[in-house]
Amino acid sequence: MIELFAFSIILQSNFSVHNISRNKTVIIVSRKPQNRPPKRITTPLNCVKNQTQTCPTNYPKTSQTQESISDYSIPPTSTCPDYFRWIHEDLSPWKVTGITRDMLERANQTAHFRLILVNNKVYIHKYKQSIQTRDVFTIWGILQLLRKYPGRLPDLELMFDCDDRPVIRSRDYSGPNNKGPPPLFRYSGDRWTMDIVFPDWSFWGWAEINIKPWESLLRELKEGNNGRNWVDREPYAYWKGNPFVAETRRDLLTCNLSDKHDWNARLYVQDWILESKQGFQQSNLASQCAHRYKIYIEGYAWSVSEKYILALFMGVIYNPPLII
Ligand SMILES: *[C@@H]1O[C@H](CO)[C@@H](O)[C@H](O)[C@H]1NC(C)=O
Ligand SMILES: *[C@@H]1O[C@H](CO)[C@@H](O)[C@H](O)[C@H]1NC(C)=O
Ligand SMILES: *[C@@H]1O[C@H](CO)[C@@H](O)[C@H](O)[C@H]1NC(C)=O
Repeated sequence: MIELFAFSIILQSNFSVHNISRNKTVIIVSRKPQNRPPKRITTPLNCVKNQTQTCPTNYPKTSQTQESISDYSIPPTSTCPDYFRWIHEDLSPWKVTGITRDMLERANQTAHFRLILVNNKVYIHKYKQSIQTRDVFTIWGILQLLRKYPGRLPDLELMFDCDDRPVIRSRDYSGPNNKGPPPLFRYSGDRWTMDIVFPDWSFWGWAEINIKPWESLLRELKEGNNGRNWVDREPYAYWKGNPFVAETRRDLLTCNLSDKHDWNARLYVQDWILESKQGFQQSNLASQCAHRYKIYIEGYAWSVSEKYILALFMGVIYNPPLII
């Protein structure tokens, strides 16, 4: 058992997860659209590692979306948000050729799972174990999307790689006779690669370090910010993370408090073993509101911490007086 989280799920239709297992082909979801009054439902995701997973028998079947639930949410608008243009950018390598079955299949080289959506049912073929529960949370996000827009997601198939670094190198597909790049989804990209960027798993939760889904986390961060005026916070720049993924992070650690220097940085290494014994209380993001400054530094790729730091900062703007 990794962690039990209350997940806020927005249900819009008849919906059931028949069977989720962590191996082979497997998440099956069905739905039937219905019109009911809005109702917000919180349902736990139970990440039992070794079992076939099913929804509880009292699992809610009907609901509708309720927008604007958090103070940070973006008001509904009739125009398509500007960032949607990136879809064209991200998919431009296939603009001329389209995506062939062969291209898709070749993404199997590094993929952790294949997701197949047919007739509003999701099937997962798991190829290999991802880091921690990244795959589970990613799939969970897609299931929520299906709930939110029942019947509006087309049949599709996608390959997903849960590791940090992009792998589909553009230079391998630049010649005239190349077979075409495999469309592979992952959490990050860069200018040298063609991996298709997807929101990172931690928007739906990061069980191993106590990070809750984005929406409830924002609420907590906001409360954490409310608890204390900025000037009353510890006047240090805080960072906590894994220094072994980048040399720059190891350099950063040399700025920590020592008996010779105090650069007002307080830097900590994430100790997975110790923290797992303590229930990851020390990793609690809201408690990081205790510091005036947060340091952002990339690891293998961009760090998921960026959005939390920005959210903390948003909270700061949100609660004046804070202009320093
Ligand atoms: C599987 O999980 C159950 C609890 O959900 C536990 O009792 C059982 O020992 C586990 N089996 C293995 C092989 O880990
Ligand atoms: C990946 O797909 C190719 C092409 O369909 C196939 O030949 C190969 O066996 C697959 N590799 C794995 C590891 O599944
Ligand atoms: C940084 O300094 C603080 C305060 O002395 C200490 O608790 C912490 O363990 C240090 N971090 C590292 C990575 O050594």
